[in-house]
Amino acid sequence: MRRRVREVVLARPVPDGARVEDFEIVERDLPPRTPAGMVHVRPLWLALDPYVPQALRGRHMGAPAPAPGEPLPGECVGIVLSSGVPGFAAGDHVVGHAGWAEEAIVPADRLRNVDPALGTREHLGILGMPGLTAWAGMTQLASVGPDDLVCVDAAAGSVGGTAGQIAKLYGARVAGIAGGPEKTRLVTDVYGFDSCIDYRQGGWETLIPADISLHFENVGQRVLDAVIPRLRAYGQIILCGLAQHYADGSVARLPLGLVMAKRAIVRGLIVYDFEERRDEWIAFAAPHLKEGRLVEAHDVVVGLESAAAQLVSVAGGRTIGRPLVRIAG
Ligand SMILES: NC(=O)c1ccc[n+]([C@@H]2O[C@H](COP(=O)([O-])OP(=O)(O)OC[C@H]3O[C@@H](n4cnc5c(N)ncnc54)[C@H](OP(=O)(O)O)[C@@H]3O)[C@@H](O)[C@H]2O)c1
Repeated sequence: MRRRVREVVLARPVPDGARVEDFEIVERDLPPRTPAGMVHVRPLWLALDPYVPQALRGRHMGAPAPAPGEPLPGECVGIVLSSGVPGFAAGDHVVGHAGWAEEAIVPADRLRNVDPALGTREHLGILGMPGLTAWAGMTQLASVGPDDLVCVDAAAGSVGGTAGQIAKLYGARVAGIAGGPEKTRLVTDVYGFDSCIDYRQGGWETLIPADISLHFENVGQRVLDAVIPRLRAYGQIILCGLAQHYADGSVARLPLGLVMAKRAIVRGLIVYDFEERRDEWIAFAAPHLKEGRLVEAHDVVVGLESAAAQLVSVAGGRTIGRPLVRIAG
């Protein structure tokens, strides 16, 4: 028998950014039997990253925007209901792209198995792509250690929060930058950074510590302009994200005179380059996560009907911790 499932799709193209009313919930029929090479998945949690609003506008990694009615981007963790391919079996926990749907038939090459004993939603955050990003920046592009004074912005987010915690585990001093008192409290009281500056307060730039040896950039011009003058000679900048520029399409520029004066080293980070190191990161992170030395806050909404509003919050930088949608379970 065919199964009817609900899925969120775009009702119209959103070249200027998506609003809640640009999404609709449709019903689809799934085939009675899972075809060869495909896996039938029930998502439990859906993650909405800052790249997703960009992807809906056709501005992510050269990929075209999804057309109205097509599955939407966003990683989920879910359970396999049935499989048409070796390597996946009913009951397995998997991570991958299944659309914003109650159930989906997904090509096997878009999924990977994960260990539910390590967590469920954690595979979308600290043990997933954001955690790998933070680890790659701090330990593979940079080599953080006890002599470092680290600065991290968007510090309440999944990538920034994890990057700062990794730096603490390696013995560095860590200053965060985040927007608003709720975020700065999370960064110091829960993530354990040494300090956190609220950039919404006037004069915040003057609070940035001098002699930063390693800066992990997630936001863009506003922070770069304030941090580069405080870099140590030969200090490093890991360029991970430009959240400030995604919404308005503005271009970030490095102040090259200052970069030269500081002898600064700027390194771009793309997490996909580190896909093969994922198991290494998980092996490092899992015991720290289990014993509470690595933690992650989650910003959760419940139900597919709340996903569009959560996406709009992500685009506006209003979420605190990992933005998730609880879909089932
Ligand atoms: N290079 C890679 O391979 C890679 C991989 C994953 C993620 N990233 C990037 O890493 C960064 C952090 O990722 P995340 O998932 O942990 O995101 P996140 O921190 O949960 O969200 C981005 C944050 O950026 C800050 N922000 C500042 N100005 C903004 C603006 N005008 N509009 C929206 N947000 C603004 C906000 O925090 P505050 O209010 O605290 O400033 C917002 O919460 C993002 O830029 C993301 O695109 C890069």
